[in-house]
Amino acid sequence: MASLDERLMQWLRDAHAMEEQAETSLAAQARRLENYPDLRTRIERHLEETRGHAATLAAAIERRGGGTSGVKDMTGKTVATFQNLVTMFAGDEVMKGCLANYTLEHMEIASYKILIATAELAGDIQTRAACEHILAEEIAMADWLDQNLEQITRLYLRREELVPDLAKK
Ligand SMILES: [Fe+2]
Ligand SMILES: [Fe+2]
Repeated sequence: MASLDERLMQWLRDAHAMEEQAETSLAAQARRLENYPDLRTRIERHLEETRGHAATLAAAIERRGGGTSGVKDMTGKTVATFQNLVTMFAGDEVMKGCLANYTLEHMEIASYKILIATAELAGDIQTRAACEHILAEEIAMADWLDQNLEQITRLYLRREELVPDLAKK
């Protein structure tokens, strides 16, 4: 049976891999988005936050005596790149991106809630505080998407009907 400390380390590593995958996905969207400036600005902001999340987790892992091996992280990045390639050709990559972002943010929220509870039990106050800080930024991004999904969808559909080239990205 895994000890509490081992579980915390494993879940910190999982979260680190998740953040690296998020970084790849957000960076690809920020690079390609042209006609949705509000969405692009918010994604760029969260991309910076996401890089911070990965760095914060790496620091927590190292503080607890572990290392961030690149193997698993590279797999995540490859998967994210492939997903981005697939959606590029369907013409609705903006909406597929929103779907992926909404899903990812809620997965991150759940992950950090789990990590906060685990760090609390393990008596690691510093890691708990770091995860609480990250969680607040994930919730803010999820809320923004929640508040803007309807408007982005309407804009996308209207453009697809009138100026398809503008709708795409
Ligand atoms: Fe994150
Ligand atoms: Fe996030």
